[in-house]
Amino acid sequence: MIDEKNHVIENRDMLKRIADFWSAQLNNEIFLRNHPNVLRGSREYFEIILAARLKYIYYLPKMIEFLETIPVKTLLEVGCGMGTDTVVFESKGFQVTGIDLASAHLQLASRLFEYYGARGSFLEANAERLPFSNEAFGGVYSFGVLHHTPNTALGISEIHRVLKPGGRAVVMLYNRNSLNNFAHWVTRKGFENAVKRDAANSDAPVTYRFTRKQVGSMCSMFTKCEISTEYLFGAGWSRIYGLVPKQVHEKLSKIWGWHLVAYLEK
Ligand SMILES: C[S@@+](CC[C@H](N)C(=O)[O-])C[C@H]1O[C@@H](n2cnc3c(N)ncnc32)[C@H](O)[C@@H]1O
Repeated sequence: MIDEKNHVIENRDMLKRIADFWSAQLNNEIFLRNHPNVLRGSREYFEIILAARLKYIYYLPKMIEFLETIPVKTLLEVGCGMGTDTVVFESKGFQVTGIDLASAHLQLASRLFEYYGARGSFLEANAERLPFSNEAFGGVYSFGVLHHTPNTALGISEIHRVLKPGGRAVVMLYNRNSLNNFAHWVTRKGFENAVKRDAANSDAPVTYRFTRKQVGSMCSMFTKCEISTEYLFGAGWSRIYGLVPKQVHEKLSKIWGWHLVAYLEK
């Protein structure tokens, strides 16, 4: 009993740390490094971020295409951050719901939707315990989130639970066997510290890196699971990124990419 109780408290404490970290470390602000005077939450702020994401997340169209075939176009985004991809899905005709632990991210997501005249609902919630009934959504999308939560496998099983039979999901997780993981191991640099590089608490409380086999086994409850490797490196490697030809980057991404992208069907 005591152990169980302690575990719950510990877990709550960890979720609070995660929420606080991501409210202070706004994910896409790495794209504003060359725009120091742009006001957070302004239209220009979102325009720069959206354009940068389309450039760096070059396989976004592939993920959209995979989800577009679902018959019921209700889409949940788990860990929607500031809603940059949620708004793209909304523009493609999906009825979107975004959840995230970090309130600062959610406030920005609502503002982004206002600017673009988009409709969607946002909710502060935990990916490991989704506040939705079974089979509530036709599709689920989660990009760069579940490696930041203590129990990734539980988050994936929650996605499976809320999907309708025949529904589809796309889940992106970090790849252990990647150039980026190796570079961070060599340099001992944190993974998620674009804003507060020198602060004591300058990396995310949780950042797992998985092998393809581990992702496959966490997704084994789905009837179909295809995993592709993408994104050799991105904005964090700004100068080098610019020097590597696009085709070379995309080819090497298939081997040593930082992103393992699971295309799933229930
Ligand atoms: C790297 S950001 C990615 C955000 C967004 N998907 C994007 O690509 O910009 C990670 C996000 O995961 C959220 N997150 C981490 N653990 C979570 C959990 N257990 N439940 C909900 N959101 C979580 C964080 O608050 C943060 O917004």
